[in-house]
Amino acid sequence: MKYEKYGLVNTGAMFDDALVRRYAIGAFNFYNMESFAAILGAARQSHSPVILAVSESALKYMGDDMLMAIIDAVHITPDENIALHLDHGHSFDSCVHAIDLGFSSVMIDASTKTFDENVALSARVAEYAHMYGVSTEAELGVLRGHEDENTTSDTEMYTNPADVYDFVSKTGVDSLAVAIGTSHGAYKMKSPTQELRFDILEKIMELLPNFPLVLHGASSIPSHLVRTINENGGNIKNALGIPVQQLQRAATTNICKINVDSDSRLAFTAAIRQSFSHAPDNFNPREYLGPAMHAVYENTMDEITNIMNSANRN
Ligand code: G3H
Ligand code: 13P
Ligand code: ZN
Repeated sequence: MKYEKYGLVNTGAMFDDALVRRYAIGAFNFYNMESFAAILGAARQSHSPVILAVSESALKYMGDDMLMAIIDAVHITPDENIALHLDHGHSFDSCVHAIDLGFSSVMIDASTKTFDENVALSARVAEYAHMYGVSTEAELGVLRGHEDENTTSDTEMYTNPADVYDFVSKTGVDSLAVAIGTSHGAYKMKSPTQELRFDILEKIMELLPNFPLVLHGASSIPSHLVRTINENGGNIKNALGIPVQQLQRAATTNICKINVDSDSRLAFTAAIRQSFSHAPDNFNPREYLGPAMHAVYENTMDEITNIMNSANRN
């Protein structure tokens, strides 16, 4: 198995433990050396399993060789429970490419296709991935928001609980992303009291017991980061994330993987904006990228500890 060379593991044992002990594993997106080192550093410092998530566009940005070189450089060992995961793979070829590179987990996102097309593509990816010991995630239902560089959806379609058993048995995927009211990006909720559809989640769990579920679009959009950005020349108005208490609740259910990208982006950007405001004469990138890296580290550490409850599980 290609990924073993990098000390990575698939998500199988991680999710088994998360299901039994009722916590979640953070899947944190990264796209450069700073965000990578910050997320890995927080996971290592807190002795937490972690899923390092790379979108198709982030992979294109970093380049295959650069990505695998930084993974190789940090000497990951299997006891650290670290998976390298393709986030929102949109085609069979994209998943095959990631597996060939050394990813230990892939998501095939055919959620905007018809049920039958989604089944067919997800099953094909799962069959290929399993030949290489790679775990597979698929999605049922559609999340609103800006999902990746190429995909934005204005409409939301909650997962239909009646479909989940059929979908999982026909595809053989190892985990399922569900749509219960989260959305990608910084503008998720209409009001701070809006609730995720835990009623739908409970029905899914009844019909698909002991099966790892995944929550995308799960950033909490910390208000202090939004404030720092807006106070330092930014313009992110009315941003509202998933309330932390609801994420904490989700982590105690069969949701084993909680995806976070926007929070890290906000932390990174807030630190840079603040640094530019405080030192307008500085033109040494290390002087603002250092604080940006530290801000992502702090945010990841906070979410591992307070939301995922995954610290000290290794
Ligand atoms: O949910 C997906 C991520 O936020 C990835 O976005 O394609 O801009 O890296 P990206
Ligand atoms: P956020 O935009 O809420 O961080 O979602 C990230 C995500 O779902 C990545 O797949
Ligand atoms: Zn997502």
